[in-house]
Amino acid sequence: MDRHPLVEQARVAARKAYAPYSKFSVGCAVESVDGEIVVGANMENACYRLGLCAELSALTAARQAFGLDKVARIAVAGGHLGVDGALKGEAPVTPCGGCRQAIYEAADLSGLDVEVICANGDGTETMVSTIRQLLPHGFGPASLADAGA
Ligand code: THU
Repeated sequence: MDRHPLVEQARVAARKAYAPYSKFSVGCAVESVDGEIVVGANMENACYRLGLCAELSALTAARQAFGLDKVARIAVAGGHLGVDGALKGEAPVTPCGGCRQAIYEAADLSGLDVEVICANGDGTETMVSTIRQLLPHGFGPASLADAGA
């Protein structure tokens, strides 16, 4: 089967995750409206609660490369990285609640309903949705502006 190129970049990034505690490697690729792509992966810490999700790490890179207001599409992929180097797991990895909020922020800035492609470890299962589907009735910059804050 043909795997989505953005998913492939997320899968490559997942292999560079630092996830010795959960052993769950996640990669994220963010594409701009102009087709530029940056990636990130989760980075854990011995102080567990300091762990960083792949999406936040990629969105930070996106901010540096082209700006959050240019985010058009995001792919997330991951699973357990086996000793053979393969990412295992049947189900597509979907962004956690906090990451949905961070993607929502970018979507609010760009005015685009950012597409989110979620994939499982080997990229054979994908689920395509938009951030407004993943986070209905979200709270973002527009909510603050509405109240004049
Ligand atoms: N993780 C992500 O990187 N993104 C998500 O949206 C879900 C969870 C990471 C955090 C942690 O390092 C590992 O997956 C297990 O929760």
